[in-house]
Amino acid sequence: MEAALARILPAAELAPQRLHAAMRYTCLDGGKRVRPMLAFAAGEVVGADETVVEAAACAVELIHVYSLTHDDLPCMDDDDLRRGKPTCHIQFDEATALLVGDALQSLAFDVLSRSGLNGPAEVRLEMLSLLARASGSRGMCGGQAVDLAATGRSLDLAELEFMHIHKTGALIQAAVQLGALAGGFLPAEARNGLESYARNVGLAFQVMDDVLDAEADTATLGKTAGKDAAQGKATYLTLMSVPEACGYARELLDRALAAIAPFGPQGRRLAEIAQFVVKRSF
Ligand code: IPE
Ligand code: IPE
Ligand code: MG
Ligand code: MG
Ligand code: MG
Repeated sequence: MEAALARILPAAELAPQRLHAAMRYTCLDGGKRVRPMLAFAAGEVVGADETVVEAAACAVELIHVYSLTHDDLPCMDDDDLRRGKPTCHIQFDEATALLVGDALQSLAFDVLSRSGLNGPAEVRLEMLSLLARASGSRGMCGGQAVDLAATGRSLDLAELEFMHIHKTGALIQAAVQLGALAGGFLPAEARNGLESYARNVGLAFQVMDDVLDAEADTATLGKTAGKDAAQGKATYLTLMSVPEACGYARELLDRALAAIAPFGPQGRRLAEIAQFVVKRSF
């Protein structure tokens, strides 16, 4: 994944150098790469072509990094540390960070639409459309809008779930769906199993992100700890205790594992990633 991203991102020597340097700074050398891992694991379930899965994995990670770059801006969460480094707008400047996000978003669709990738055109079109929907106002961006509107007030459980399923779940679901689509259209039963898995993992991912924000330290996280409480963010910890939130995440893990049980050993990597998402410490 590191090599693929390094290859796809424009060289820092290419004009405009400052923008390209900032894109590379923000994307490379950091991050858990959970979404690419999910795409590869889902591709493994269906025996997908690796070059198509790699393009899908890169595309979803590029959208994710764009979302982080904008999430950290002063007009959103105002964070100065990300992946153990100064955030893009601190290292460069705010206008550059805005453009980095914009350019990474375009690059994601560029990568997914490149010629030379195998597979039927209608599958590739569906992949593009799926990523567009997952990123937009009915997906990640919509979730971010709810997050900002909720800051300083409390949400009930259904509203929180809506926010988390969108701001974080949408791209996690897209990663799984794109990885699987790289192998072609799936029968409904397998598609439903993967969808249920991804929905539960996506929600569990953000529940644990909320828990870690409160429980872990800045050095381990690579981002400033304790920001949610300091900024009055609506999180699972505004509605439940840490042990309750961890219990809920384990419940979601069980549901995710049950959904992929029919895949047998081919679903092993998906199962491992789901376990990591809930048991991680960073
Ligand atoms: C952080 O995502 C932002 C959320 C959507 C919760 P990750 O925890 O996957 O961040 P990286 O990619 O590892 O830095
Ligand atoms: C971020 O959620 C979700 C997106 C970037 C889409 P958070 O604001 O909780 O993520 P962190 O904690 O800053 O990584
Ligand atoms: Mg945020
Ligand atoms: Mg944030
Ligand atoms: Mg967070």
